[in-house]
Amino acid sequence: MPMDSLNKHLKRKSSHVPIWFLRQAGRHIPEYFEIRKRETNFIKFCLNSNLIIESTKLPLKYYDLDAAIVFSDILMIPWAMDRNVKFVKNFGPSLEPMIPNETKIIKNVSIQKKLEPLKVSINSLRDALPKKISLIGFAGAPWTLACYMIEGKGSKDFINTRRALWNSNKWFMELIDTLVIYISDKLEMQAKAGANVLMIFDSWSHMIPNNFFKDCAINPIANIVNILRSKKIFVPIIGFPFKAGPSLIKYSYESQVDCISLDWSVDLNWANKNINKNIALQGNLDPVSLIPNQSIHLKENVLSILDIMKDRRFIFNVGHGLTPDCKIKNVKEVINIIKDYGRQNL
Ligand code: CP3
Repeated sequence: MPMDSLNKHLKRKSSHVPIWFLRQAGRHIPEYFEIRKRETNFIKFCLNSNLIIESTKLPLKYYDLDAAIVFSDILMIPWAMDRNVKFVKNFGPSLEPMIPNETKIIKNVSIQKKLEPLKVSINSLRDALPKKISLIGFAGAPWTLACYMIEGKGSKDFINTRRALWNSNKWFMELIDTLVIYISDKLEMQAKAGANVLMIFDSWSHMIPNNFFKDCAINPIANIVNILRSKKIFVPIIGFPFKAGPSLIKYSYESQVDCISLDWSVDLNWANKNINKNIALQGNLDPVSLIPNQSIHLKENVLSILDIMKDRRFIFNVGHGLTPDCKIKNVKEVINIIKDYGRQNL
């Protein structure tokens, strides 16, 4: 069977640099709003197979990409745990906050049953998409999910989560360990349904006090990878510890992931030199560079990323999600620059 583009490159470096974009399926594409209107409740949207399939395919209509990320949200696990998750217009996610030591951590949630529509969607997407397009399944990391579950919303400093980590450590680590199980269940389901690659988003890893980084951002990820491998799931796993800074080095040696997605603040020369050489890298164009009508720095930046990473297994991506105001023409331009670069360096 022909291999999908990301697996091919991750197994053995090829001259073709695979390309995809974080949050490629969302609000920067006009038709997304048409599809989105068909279900106003975002949770219900993420549980509707037809809408998942259409949104996942949407960016492929516009761009010559190597991968599609299945449309879902990291907060579907807290939703499955009955944390009353809502997406409030002009506010963002809202959840019932967990009170450390007082809120019972529910066990035995059947993630695979609750998220069945996701499985159905991946099954038919894998059949429908060309074999060379990698289908990416994902989940939020335990720390990031705990952040939303304890604060009940986004936050600039996640004080309540950090307080729980220091004050109610046993309870907190029990929450992390429970999330490890649910996240593994969700990832296992996606791989078995046909996802070729899995990605774990730790969007708030920069909130972790440094002395707890190993307990909260490295060991739980290693546990997830080990659970999946013990279930004979061998698809590549990409970790995304957002803004983890120098902790990326330890993460690259100990988390067991196959590839690390780098945020836009990472110096790629530093990363290339210091991050475990057995690990592939992904990233890290600033998504904000795709907003201006014309940026004289865009091409120069894309070429510099490619030059620095030319001897490494590397997937081109942005350093965080595309923003709603990013311009389609800029994304197209970036793809063309990368393809031209590939042709010149054959
Ligand atoms: O293209 C894709 O990547 C689609 C799949 C996807 C979504 N969310 C769809 C979505 C993925 C991979 C995510 C991950 C996600 N969700 C993360 C990790 C990545 C990151 O950005 O750090 C996080 C932190 C979330 C939580 C979340 N979900 C937030 C903060 C928001 C924005 C709330 C808002 O209203 O601005 C969401 C909602 C969400 N998830 C949208 C999309 C397209 C927008 C909601 C809408 O269209 O109404």
